[in-house]
Amino acid sequence: MDPIRNPYAPGAGSPPPELAGRDELRSSINTALQRIKIGRPDKSILMVGLRGVGKTVLLDNIREMAESLGVQTLRIEAPEERSLPAILAPQLRQALLRLSLNERARAAAHRALRGLAGFAKALKVKFHDIEVGLDFEAEPGLADNGDLEHDLQALLEEAGIAAREGGTALALFIDELQYVEEDELAALITAMHRVAQRRLPVILVGAGLPQLRGRMGRAKSYAERLFDFPIVDRLPRPAAIQAILKPAQDEGVDIELAALEYIFEKTRGYPYFLQEWGKHTWEAATVSPITLSDVERASDSAVAALDESFFRVRFDRLTPVEKTYLRAMAEIGPGPHRSGDIAQQLQREVSSLGPTRSQLIAKGMIWSPSHGDTAFTVPMFDEFMKRIMPTSDWRN
Ligand SMILES: Nc1ncnc2c1ncn2[C@@H]1O[C@H](COP(=O)(O)OP(=O)(O)OP(=O)(O)O)[C@@H](O)[C@H]1O
Ligand SMILES: [Mg+2]
Repeated sequence: MDPIRNPYAPGAGSPPPELAGRDELRSSINTALQRIKIGRPDKSILMVGLRGVGKTVLLDNIREMAESLGVQTLRIEAPEERSLPAILAPQLRQALLRLSLNERARAAAHRALRGLAGFAKALKVKFHDIEVGLDFEAEPGLADNGDLEHDLQALLEEAGIAAREGGTALALFIDELQYVEEDELAALITAMHRVAQRRLPVILVGAGLPQLRGRMGRAKSYAERLFDFPIVDRLPRPAAIQAILKPAQDEGVDIELAALEYIFEKTRGYPYFLQEWGKHTWEAATVSPITLSDVERASDSAVAALDESFFRVRFDRLTPVEKTYLRAMAEIGPGPHRSGDIAQQLQREVSSLGPTRSQLIAKGMIWSPSHGDTAFTVPMFDEFMKRIMPTSDWRN
């Protein structure tokens, strides 16, 4: 098929041609946003799911939805190396400056910006990476204690008041939340708790790996009650078929049912894989309708493309010891696995593998679905590990 018109979009955060299977979640978040905007209480939302299921794409989609509702938004991604206050401050400043364009919100937005000045100055001691343009002088006593938990709370309260004065709401979109340090996460939870208590129109819409939920609970025990944790999962069969078929039909191309079934079987409905299979199948086919044999011919190159991108970027961040640990997991299958079974593969004591396991959790490679269990956060990573470390001497 014409490569120029290939509609599929494999890639981290690439908007898919058809956002399949997420209508229910989008609509419930839409309701929450509208409620918050008119001063009704609703929970903040933290979407959790494995790598490549479409969390980032959803976050961006919902942000657009929020903006079209007239909600003021900011969007950040928690990187592994930087502090939350450092990435939050500049985006919050932009949002407050936009709010201050609104006559009714101006005075409160300016006050919040003074709060931001105090916040940045006071916390610079602890978080050296804070760098934000300051539009106003700090106001003594406003968000400038130097204690993140206190100051973030004060700052978000001021921002919430400004949003309320402007007849709108402030929605914070934060991706990769599992990378935020626990004390910073605790401060964020406290601040969200406070604005909720005061009925201020501030909402957090976050996304992260499945370990996020446990991390939040450890940071603040009441976090599980304060937030909703919808699971973003692989697509069920009808949605997966829709994700492949609809974009082709929009281009005037049909796809045989057998071909669609085969794509579903190969990808198990994981969104990233669906896009990759869609793309390669389109490339392999020459006429409409696309057939099963087109998909069969495309499968090897789809797998190779995933190996070189989706899987590879994860693999390259691992130390040799971590690779061996994951390879041992792969040896016993897709998982989840008991720690004892992994240790047995490696002929080691469970306790001696603790540090490696912790590092892999911190890197976002594995998580613990229940006590003593270990699972991959990257779908089908077991099969990839066997492809990339095939020889029987991986144990050495
Ligand atoms: N609902 C969907 N229907 C079809 N394709 C989708 C859907 N959601 C996401 N995708 C596709 O899946 C791929 C991965 O999406 P995205 O980067 O949002 O996943 P993610 O969960 O954020 O992954 P990661 O944890 O690696 O950041 C993209 O190519 C995107 O186009
Ligand atoms: Mg993402």
